[in-house]
Amino acid sequence: MSSPRWLRRAGAPRLEFGADYNPDQWPRAVWDEDVQHMRTAGVTIVSLAIFSWAKLEPAEGEYDFAWLDDAIDLLHANGISVDLATATASPPPWLTAAYPEILPVDREGHTIWPGGRQQWRPTSPIFREHALRLVRALADRYKEHPAVVAWHVSNELGCHNVYDYSDDAARAFRVWLRDKYATLDELNDAWGTAFWSQRYTAWDEIIPPRLAATHPNPGQQLDFKRFSSDALLAYLRAEKEILREITPDIPVTTNFMVMGETKGMDYAAWADEVDFVSNDHYRLPGPQSVDELSFSANLTGNLAGGQPWFLMEHSTSAVNWQPVNVPKKDGELARDSLTHVAHGADAVCFFQWRQSRAGAEKYHSAMLPHAGADSDLFRAVTALGAQLATLSELAGTPRTRARAAILFDWPSWWASELDSHPTDRLRYRQEALDWYTTFLNLGVRADVVPLGAPLEEYDVLVAPVLHIVPADLAKRLDAYVSAGGHLVTTYFSGIVDEHDHVWLGGYPGALRDLLGIRIEEFAPLLDGETAPLSNGTTGTLWTDRIDLTDPAVDVLASYETGELAGRPAVTRRAVGNGSAAYVSSRLGPEGLAPVLTTLLERAGVPSDLPAELRGKVELAQRGDFRFVLNRTDEPIDISALGATEATLPARGVAVIRA
Ligand code: GLA
Repeated sequence: MSSPRWLRRAGAPRLEFGADYNPDQWPRAVWDEDVQHMRTAGVTIVSLAIFSWAKLEPAEGEYDFAWLDDAIDLLHANGISVDLATATASPPPWLTAAYPEILPVDREGHTIWPGGRQQWRPTSPIFREHALRLVRALADRYKEHPAVVAWHVSNELGCHNVYDYSDDAARAFRVWLRDKYATLDELNDAWGTAFWSQRYTAWDEIIPPRLAATHPNPGQQLDFKRFSSDALLAYLRAEKEILREITPDIPVTTNFMVMGETKGMDYAAWADEVDFVSNDHYRLPGPQSVDELSFSANLTGNLAGGQPWFLMEHSTSAVNWQPVNVPKKDGELARDSLTHVAHGADAVCFFQWRQSRAGAEKYHSAMLPHAGADSDLFRAVTALGAQLATLSELAGTPRTRARAAILFDWPSWWASELDSHPTDRLRYRQEALDWYTTFLNLGVRADVVPLGAPLEEYDVLVAPVLHIVPADLAKRLDAYVSAGGHLVTTYFSGIVDEHDHVWLGGYPGALRDLLGIRIEEFAPLLDGETAPLSNGTTGTLWTDRIDLTDPAVDVLASYETGELAGRPAVTRRAVGNGSAAYVSSRLGPEGLAPVLTTLLERAGVPSDLPAELRGKVELAQRGDFRFVLNRTDEPIDISALGATEATLPARGVAVIRA
C-alpha cells in the first residue's frame, strides 16, 4: 500500500465504531429507534445497502432510491457516517431468472442456483453490465451526500463464488493464459503437458480444471487459482473505475476475509487496489482461536503496509455458520476488538447492527440483540464504544514494526496443498500459525508479512512451507542472509519454481546451498506416527532424510528413532553475521519453542515480556501505545509492565501510553 487514503470526513481523527446496517429488513418506525440506540452506543459509521440490490432495482433498469435517501439522511442528521455499499453482492431473483447464464457452475458442472447469495460468475459480461449500471446509478445519486465517507465494493468478494468453472470462466481463463504465456508452446512447457498426453494445440482446447478422471494437471490447477483471484480483482477494478470517475474524492474499499482457511484471494495482490484495507474476521473454535485472531489482524495490518486499516466485520458474540455456535465470554467482545486495534485497526465494526428477525442469519449475534437494548450484550457494546472514544489519540498511528517476521504467501499456500503430493495432510496456514503461537508464547513480537514487505528490515525471518521459490526470490533470500539476516524455513520449502516445476539436484532445490543441506527423498509420516527428536520434542506429519553439504551447518536437533535415527532434523548454517535454518518436521508450538528460543538467542532478539508473563499475554505496539492483551481465562498480574492497573482481568486488555 503506497499511499492509503482514509475516510472522507472532517473533524478530529477518531477510532470509528459501527456495523453493517440493514434498515431494509425493518419497518420505517424501527429506524428512529435504531439511530437513538446507535447514539447511545457511540456508533460513528455504518455500512449500508450491502444486500439491497433487489430493493434498489426492483425491476430491470427501474431504481428506487427513496428509502435509501431517507436512511442516509436520517443517519447524517444523527452524526453517523456511511460506508456505502455498491449493493452488487447478491443479484435479485429477476436478474438470475432473466439471465441464468450469470449463475456460477461448480467443478462437476452443477449450477449454483439462487436462494442464497453471491450467485454470480466473476467473469460474466451480463452480470457485469447490470452490476456496473447499478454502481453508476448509486454513485451519481450520492456523489454529493456529505454522509458518504467511503465506498464498499460488493461484499466479501469471492466468499462463495471464487471458483467458477462455467463457460464464461473458460473463455476468460484462456484470455488470461494468453496474456501470461503469449504462445501455446510456453503454456505447454509451463504446465508440463508432455505428461499424460496433455499437449494443447489450440487455445480453445483449454478449460478450467473441471472434474477429471484423475488429478487434473497441477499447472492448470495453480494457474486457475491465480486466474480466479485475478478475475475477482478485475471485477473490483471495474467497480472502482466507475466510482473514481464519478466520486474521485471518496475512497474505495472492499472487505477482505483474512481469516482461517479462506484462501482463494491473493490479498497481497489486492491490497494496492483499495484506498484503505478493510477486513472481516470471525473467531474460529480450537486451542489457537485467540492466536488466530491476532495472526489475522497482524497480517491484515501488514497487508496495509503498517498503516491503519478498517475492521469491517466481526461478531459481538456467537455466529450462526459453525456446527455449534457458542457465545463470547465476558470480556471477549472488547478484548477481540482491541486486538484488532492493537494491530492497526482504526475502525471496529460488526456484522450487524440489529439482529435479524428472519432469514439465515437470525441467530447471528449483533450489536443490538433480539433481547433489545436492556441486555448485557448491548451494555458491553456501549462500553466498548465509550472505550474506543477514549483512544481517539491513537487514530492514524501506524503499527510499530517488530524485529521478527513470518512470511505469508498465497501462491505457496495454494501450491503446497495441491493433490498428488507426498502427503495430503499438510496445512500451510496451520504451520504459519504454529510459528506465530510460538512467538506469542515466547513474548517476542513478530509481524506476519506478505512477500512485498521490506523483508530486509527484519532481523529474523521465518518462512514456513515456502513451497514456491522462483529464482529471483532465492536470490533475495540469499542476499537477506548475506546481509546478516536470520532466515528460518521448514519442510516442503524451496521445492518448486513459479510453474510448480521441481528444482533438480536434491531438495530443497532453490534453498539447498543457502541451507547447506540436501534431501533425496521426503519421508512424510502416517497419521498417528511420530518422530521423537534429540531435544526432547516430537515431530509429526513430515520428516526429511537430510545430508549436510556444508561443514558450517550446526545440527540443533536430530531424529532419535527409525530409519532416520541419528540424522539431522533441525539445522542452522551460519553465514557471516546471518544464518539459514531448517526445520524438517511439524513440531507444533510446543516443539518449536526450544528451536525458536535458540534461533532468537543467536540472532540477538530478546523477549519483550518478563518470564512470568510469557504464554499468558500478548504485547502489541502502535507508536507510543502498548497493548497488553490477556490471552487466557485467568486474571494476570501485569505490574511488571508498568500498567496503572496491576491486575489484568480474564480476557482483559490494558493500554499503556509511553
Ligand atoms: C460475512 C458477511 C456478512 C455475514 C457474516 C456472518 O462476513 O459479509 O454479511 O454473513 O459473514 O458472520
